[in-house]
Amino acid sequence: MTSNFKPEIVKFDLKTYVMQPFKMGRQVKLGDLKEYFNDLEAAAQILSKGKNPIVYEYYQYTTPEIEGHLTFGVTTIYPGNVGKEYYMTRGHYHKKDAAEIYLGLSGKGSLLMQTKEGEVTYLDLKPSSIGYVPPGWGHRTINTGIEKLVFYFVYPSDSGHDYELVKEKGFAKIVIEENGVTKVIDNPRF
Ligand code: PA5
Ligand code: MN
Repeated sequence: MTSNFKPEIVKFDLKTYVMQPFKMGRQVKLGDLKEYFNDLEAAAQILSKGKNPIVYEYYQYTTPEIEGHLTFGVTTIYPGNVGKEYYMTRGHYHKKDAAEIYLGLSGKGSLLMQTKEGEVTYLDLKPSSIGYVPPGWGHRTINTGIEKLVFYFVYPSDSGHDYELVKEKGFAKIVIEENGVTKVIDNPRF
């Protein structure tokens, strides 16, 4: 029952971006994520050296996954590359037609979104920017900078996450660095 959930204040340190209390956290390492990168060989090579770096982590205040509630938290994507591709989240579609908000807190990055009908957008995500992900848009965040990319997110708790489509084909575009320049190019595997 929605009403059984008690109101409370969540402390959010605007310097360290630590949220207290947080009820769920996850670290996603390259080994968990390797098939999402375009350059599978580059991923395998890093892993074969015995390294399994953290690519991103998130902490969230978890509420019941039922209509009416909101889930919110903070994601940090570390700086780095796999081959030419920047570190990024897996990305997903929401199972329900549910929107999401991202507020950039620190670092430099981007928000890649696409619909199942083939429309694509690429937006900057940086401090003082709020990215709006409309219902129906698959979304992935990418760290294109040399520092951590940190952002706050909030979405309806009953949204559901669908990773299958992205796992199969990826996004229509990939974001790479070539000669120090950030480029958004067609995904050869899409
Ligand atoms: O719901 C969201 O979009 C975020 O909370 C993400 O889940 C988070 O940034 C991690 O990305 P992903 O779920 O694609 O691994
Ligand atoms: Mn989402």
